[in-house]
Amino acid sequence: MYLGLDLGTSGVKAMLMDDGQQIIGSATGHLDVSRPHPGWSEQDPSHWLRATEEAIGQLKQSHPKELAAVRGIGLSGQMHGATLLDSNNQVLRPCILWNDTRSYREAAELDADPRFRAITGNIVFPGFTAPKLVWVKNNEPDIFAKVAKVLLPKDYLRLWLSGEHLSEMSDSAGTSWLDTGKRAWSSELLAATGLSVEQMPKLVEGTQPAGILRGELAAKWGMGTGIVIAGGAGDNAASACGMGTVAEGAAFVSLGTSGVLFAANASYLPNPASAVHAFCHALPNTWHQMGVILSATDALNWYSGIAGESAASLTAELGNELQAPGSVTFLPYLSGERTPHNDAAIRGVFTGLGHESSRVVLTQAVLEGVSFAIRDNLEALKSAGTTIGRVTAIGGGSRSRYWLKSIATALDVPVDIPADGDFGAAFGAARLGLIAATGADPLSVCTPPKTAETIEPVAAHRPAYEAAYQRYRKLYPAIAGLAG
Ligand code: XUL
Repeated sequence: MYLGLDLGTSGVKAMLMDDGQQIIGSATGHLDVSRPHPGWSEQDPSHWLRATEEAIGQLKQSHPKELAAVRGIGLSGQMHGATLLDSNNQVLRPCILWNDTRSYREAAELDADPRFRAITGNIVFPGFTAPKLVWVKNNEPDIFAKVAKVLLPKDYLRLWLSGEHLSEMSDSAGTSWLDTGKRAWSSELLAATGLSVEQMPKLVEGTQPAGILRGELAAKWGMGTGIVIAGGAGDNAASACGMGTVAEGAAFVSLGTSGVLFAANASYLPNPASAVHAFCHALPNTWHQMGVILSATDALNWYSGIAGESAASLTAELGNELQAPGSVTFLPYLSGERTPHNDAAIRGVFTGLGHESSRVVLTQAVLEGVSFAIRDNLEALKSAGTTIGRVTAIGGGSRSRYWLKSIATALDVPVDIPADGDFGAAFGAARLGLIAATGADPLSVCTPPKTAETIEPVAAHRPAYEAAYQRYRKLYPAIAGLAG
């Protein structure tokens, strides 16, 4: 039996998986985000521990025997967060999260130093970890002076679970301090932000053992001794392990709060100019690329708030038959954009509104806008050397058939829908726990789920979709610099 723990933004999910990779049960402990100022997004790390206790406590109630049989644990987590600890492992301030944009100036300054793109293979985005530390140095110097360790969220959870300061490659690649090709911390980049390698956790691969569950916690949860904790992964790489997106050419599209187009690569293929993220994968000696858009279901949820109808009833109003795009175009940049624009200040727009633009017309435009933003990501990945022949869809937004047809037609690739099941980050983490505890071959463990159905591009609407995408592409340059 194995346990996957995914420390997400809205909750910690704990999932039990048996030796045959069947999901036995799962439970979630709730988390809130605190936004004390515009652009800030923080969480108190003690809440992560409380939510983990809550989730595992529920599993102890529902599956005590299975929990007692756990041999390995895998960790997954929201990426990029800065958890700052003093020399006694005390948390120095709330964690600054992945979607906090306060350090956009510091990010631009670091990004202007050519060493960052050259060594990390990525733009220094405002959400990444290094610029947050420079912000703390500039604005909270007393706290910065006390920083003994910088940990990513799931690695703080590991410290509590095992007492070890350890991290792994996939999550560390999102800090702006990792030499992504060499899979090692860059002392040069750390020094450029006033830090040293001693302030970072030691690194392992996601599939390797990285700590043993502390006896005190094991006893509390009715678990055995010597339970191995795997290195684990950042949540996107962990989802990829759950979806079997590990071999060259495999890809998924995730329609969650943010949207991600993720492709596995056998080699390191950076192309920072395209705003593609080139990170280490969780499996040794593999990498991945991804394009990240900041508002996917978030865009539909925003519109649903305005329209006063639930997202589900808005998409139901569209029916199942894909329509050709009309005159209205929506740009989903509600909180700025990462790929392809790297623009924290840009904001969304509707264009082409007329008297006939009803609620349903705008819903259609919102879904199309996100599809076109994902198409921008496909083009960015192409320019970084990746060809995608088909994608598997995951995330809450993939429940809308209309949206999947729109994405298949905008990307002009088939979209596979996995057979029923939960193949997300917690499942991927449990798989990494299995590999670390048993030494099993990662490729034979991280296999793709069965496909329940494939959504093909709608050939009749391809020309209209292509014309609408070309119109969409002209809008960003026209509005860049106008927001705010
Ligand atoms: C990836 C990213 C998000 C978070 C969400 O770069 O910022 O997908 O990992 O948890």
